[in-house]
Amino acid sequence: MPTTSLTVNGRAVSVGADPDTPLLDVLRNHLGLVGAKFGCGLEQCGCCMVLVDGKPEKSCGKALSAVAGKNILTIEGLGTPRAPHPLQQAFLDEQAGQCGYCLPGILITAKALLDHNPAPSRAEIARALDDNICRCGSHARILRAVERAAAQMCGEAGR
Ligand code: FES
Ligand code: FES
Repeated sequence: MPTTSLTVNGRAVSVGADPDTPLLDVLRNHLGLVGAKFGCGLEQCGCCMVLVDGKPEKSCGKALSAVAGKNILTIEGLGTPRAPHPLQQAFLDEQAGQCGYCLPGILITAKALLDHNPAPSRAEIARALDDNICRCGSHARILRAVERAAAQMCGEAGR
């Protein structure tokens, strides 16, 4: 089996798998990173979202060969229970989620947004999250949580 090298959450890894294997399967089955979820498998729901070189991508539709040498960030690389990312803390504070299945993808997409646009409008947040489906209907709280995180991060940057 050929080996593919990439960086995941800051760690260099080599994966022995068919180059056509979806990145989502590599993360979950080869690397034990089960934060990104399998929903539709058809690039329609966004719960498998990860950052590839800083850009949100649906990992169910990305072949391993397409991410060779690239930097991947999954939800496991965003923060920890002891030191949550401001987005994670804001989602907790707003209780933004019910089952939580969509949240890894939503948090990753929101991180990409705030990296490029630290103070987005509500419309810009909604547009950025357009590809992320929440079947529980937590959209209002999710929008509030992203706004809260942005405000907090901007406040910290201004100190
Ligand atoms: S599982 Fe990848 S978009 Fe739905
Ligand atoms: S919280 Fe259940 S799918 Fe979003």
